[in-house]
Amino acid sequence: MNNKFYITTPIYYVNDKPHIGHAYTTILADVLARYHKTAGDEVFFLTGLDEHGQKVQQAAQKRGLSAQAHCDDLAPRFIQLWEKLEIKYDDFIRTTQERHIKVVQAVLQKVYESGDIYLHEYEGWYSVAEERFITETEKESGAFRDVKPLKERNWFFKMSKYQQTLIDYINDNPSFIQPVHRRNEILGFLKQPLGDLCISRPKARMDWGIELPFDKEYVTYVWFDALINYITAPGYLSDDEKFKKWWPADVHLLGKDILTTHSVYWTTMLFSLALPLPKTIFAHGWWLIGETKMSKSLGNVVNPLDLVDQYGVDAVRYYLMREMVLGQDANFTLESFIKRYNSDLANDFGNLLNRVSGLVGKYFEGVVAEEGQVNEPELAIQKQAGALDAKVRQLVDELRINEAIEETLQLVRAANKYLEYQAPWKVAKESLPQAGTILYTAMEALRISAVLLAPVMPAKTATVLDVLGATDSAPRWGELKSGTKLKTHDALFPRLEVKE
Ligand code: MSP
Repeated sequence: MNNKFYITTPIYYVNDKPHIGHAYTTILADVLARYHKTAGDEVFFLTGLDEHGQKVQQAAQKRGLSAQAHCDDLAPRFIQLWEKLEIKYDDFIRTTQERHIKVVQAVLQKVYESGDIYLHEYEGWYSVAEERFITETEKESGAFRDVKPLKERNWFFKMSKYQQTLIDYINDNPSFIQPVHRRNEILGFLKQPLGDLCISRPKARMDWGIELPFDKEYVTYVWFDALINYITAPGYLSDDEKFKKWWPADVHLLGKDILTTHSVYWTTMLFSLALPLPKTIFAHGWWLIGETKMSKSLGNVVNPLDLVDQYGVDAVRYYLMREMVLGQDANFTLESFIKRYNSDLANDFGNLLNRVSGLVGKYFEGVVAEEGQVNEPELAIQKQAGALDAKVRQLVDELRINEAIEETLQLVRAANKYLEYQAPWKVAKESLPQAGTILYTAMEALRISAVLLAPVMPAKTATVLDVLGATDSAPRWGELKSGTKLKTHDALFPRLEVKE
């Protein structure tokens, strides 16, 4: 099937430490990238940092640092977190890198020369918090903080020129904006006349940005700069061959709050550059903390590092991937984390390994027996396991990760039940080969589940496969070799005590 798969996360503002929301998107991208890699696809996974703009400049000022020193200080915190979370990206872009500045300036020059950028004096309401002019209606909604009147000469991008092209494109490409309710939201938004996009900030007011190549008095608006990262990294204007290979991106993953910038600003920029649009823009929901929005002022920001230190990286990755229905909000609570951990990881997955390795130790001196004579119960497990790979792939292709995980856990549960009913500890007294068959069957189900869960839990599944002597095996029935001596291991996911 060898396809290419180019996936991106948003590039995160370096105004603060990363939180669970950042971790979620990045883990999701990593899981998708790993699934595609195991399917034989060639993968390019890009993440990085959005380092310009007012927010970052203000954060730096607060710390008494230059903007660049502030970014250089915070960037490693993101990189270290990604290491701890087992994120295996292929490129990490920072918008202050020379390679990016060059591309942004070349893009600006190109768009300017094509006549899609013009100078205009604008008077209106400016939201300092949002770093942009807002409409009268937006102001009246009361949703914007720090609003003041402002009159300024600025450079504008002719976004409105591409409004109909964009509407047609969305209508012609049903899988372009996902999920469907977000697509409808954007189509609804596009029913109003689209304004042009102010893409400059006068240096006199805000100078932390990329200078406009055609007007030295201005820097580029942070979103116009940031979105271009998606083409800088795969080599736009620097490496034609590489760019041709990777662009367009297969999936831009992002949160629902930044869907408009991606599906309207970015797409119209690409139209102007005559570049193809990304195949899918997928907006996920938000992690709420005990039903409320996570925010610094509420003091309820969940630090992913604390969770990883306490419960291990695989459990955190598993919980985040299993718990959120992609596209909807999800609620993070420690109770639900512990519940999910104990039921799926300790009782189901970890327990299956413990049982089979214990029984193989007791009755077969730790050596995998022949599969032997199979009957209906074995065939039922084989059938479920045999169909799993294709099912999981399809769900992953449709970005239904939580369902892909659930399908796999169903096989784990079926194997546990099968063991209980077949009771190999009893069968062993009458027929050792039959007990061997039962254990072989349960181990194969475990092995295939581990292979298919590897993108979500790379470390623990590697342990399972190592114990089974099947490190590089495929999710196909029969790859477990009889005669293999199982390795000893600790409890995979020790049960967590529930605090009353
Ligand atoms: N710098 C811009 C993105 C530019 S992309 C060209 C930005 N950065 S951000 O750091 O503020 O946010 C990045 C992502 O984090 C967004 O996709 C946002 O939806 C996500 N999240 C922030 N809080 C979140 C939760 N509580 N839950 C899930 N994701 C959340 O926006």
